[in-house]
Amino acid sequence: MKKNILLWFVLLLLVANKAIGQKNTYLMPRVIEKNGHHALLVDGKPFLMLGGQAHNSSAWPGMLPQVWAAVEAMHANTLEIPIYWEQVEATQGKFDFSVIDTLLLQTRAHKVKLVLLWFATWKNGSNHYMPHWMKNNAAKYPNVTNKKGQLIDSPSPNIEATLEADTRAFAAVMRYLKKADPQHTVIMVQVENEPGAWDTQRDYSPLAQKIFEGPVPAELLKPEVLKALKRPANATGTWKQVFEERADEYFHAWSVARFIGKVAAAGKAEYALPLYVNAALRDPLTNPMANSYESGGPTDNVIPIYKAAAPAIDVLSPDIYLDGSERILKVIELYDRPDNALFVPEASLAPHMAGYIYDVIARGGIGFSPFGIDSNRPDGKKTETVERLAPFAQDYKVFAPMMRELAQWGFDGKIKAVVEREDNAAQTIDLGAWQATVTFGSNWRGNDVTPNAKPNGRAMIIKLGENNFIVIGALCHVTFKPLGSNQGKVWQYLTVEEGQYEKGVFKPIRILNGDETDWGGPRLGSTPLVLQVTLSVR
Ligand code: DGJ
Repeated sequence: MKKNILLWFVLLLLVANKAIGQKNTYLMPRVIEKNGHHALLVDGKPFLMLGGQAHNSSAWPGMLPQVWAAVEAMHANTLEIPIYWEQVEATQGKFDFSVIDTLLLQTRAHKVKLVLLWFATWKNGSNHYMPHWMKNNAAKYPNVTNKKGQLIDSPSPNIEATLEADTRAFAAVMRYLKKADPQHTVIMVQVENEPGAWDTQRDYSPLAQKIFEGPVPAELLKPEVLKALKRPANATGTWKQVFEERADEYFHAWSVARFIGKVAAAGKAEYALPLYVNAALRDPLTNPMANSYESGGPTDNVIPIYKAAAPAIDVLSPDIYLDGSERILKVIELYDRPDNALFVPEASLAPHMAGYIYDVIARGGIGFSPFGIDSNRPDGKKTETVERLAPFAQDYKVFAPMMRELAQWGFDGKIKAVVEREDNAAQTIDLGAWQATVTFGSNWRGNDVTPNAKPNGRAMIIKLGENNFIVIGALCHVTFKPLGSNQGKVWQYLTVEEGQYEKGVFKPIRILNGDETDWGGPRLGSTPLVLQVTLSVR
């Protein structure tokens, strides 16, 4: 009898273990797609990364208090922070994960999530984070050669020894994370940082030249890839023959992407977290040549090359430091593709950038993260950090308690957004039986519009039902009119409630009426608000 009980106990343990194992597999963060919309699943549900990226030299234990002060001040739910190859593998083959341990522990204590940035072969196009044993052996781990035969400050993607070293180190990092982070504190990993080369379109070394004069790889000659690269479907031959004036840039993009794809695949084989590569952008409006921007990174024109060369990379992401609403909105549009989840892992901290989060969320983007949130000095002043982060903090504060809902609505295609442009012009949002008009500026009585001094107005509308909407925004005035099946009908606001989301439920603080809605609709001031609007036709 006793023996039987023991046997049952062992059996039970085995089943429970298997169930826990399956649960963990299910709970792995991953990026999914539905009808062209994406979601980053964390703990099995869509998650919106309200991120902030630390400065480059802040991932040292002595600097972390400043980083956490910034994360808190910002109401961020995700910290992006580098891990440095030069620190992780200071001695060849000996790995030191102590900083990763510190990051994991402190991130958990702050109840947020981590995105780790693997600063390795490329950091902004250079090799500056390679360990000393590589930097001191330039013959084995060479840089690229420019057209004039000079070595430039960028590692060559054509060198097997460099690839082998990076692959081994990244695999070790991912293997360690799998062991050290069963609860998935780390939800994504960036492989390299703004890879590519400044000051040359490609590597002109004899080795690279030989490969360049060979045939274009079969992966790029598939009709759908050629079409996406605007080449004839039957093109074939050398890089020059197939890609003509773009041959140098596309060759470098292929070489870098192939290298990163192999590093990523080795890491993923250890631990299958979502992986992404970030891009130093080119002008999205003028189709310039790669001598005006970093060549070889995942700029908008070579996304199809990266998708073909690096299938282990889940997401290609724009680092947005551009000016002008037309440029910024165009870039967001270019990286929001059925085959690519929209994620902005870096953006300027300039106040005007905050509004673009609205567009990213509405498109079902998985996250947004301005760069350089911490004070960048060990003795940095907290008040300075709070002030600098305020434009982002006020939106994050509103989004944070409802980020799961926002991520789900974005994934379901239920959100539409407008961001004020430089001309301050009103914009409309079609919602089926209703059209919302968003005007920017202070005009809460009548039509006497005083434009916003800086174009920072923003609004998103979530369609919960035919006549029921959530409106989130700032520095704008929202009015509705009947459209479609409601066209021409007399209508009115049933209720406009101001409140916030708590645990999945909208909790009103008050009903807005009278002066607060009589002038066409609710006005949203400089502090973002969440409103629930219910309309009726008579
Ligand atoms: C973009 C890089 O990816 C970051 O690491 C940092 O160097 C910023 N530029 C600085 O603006």
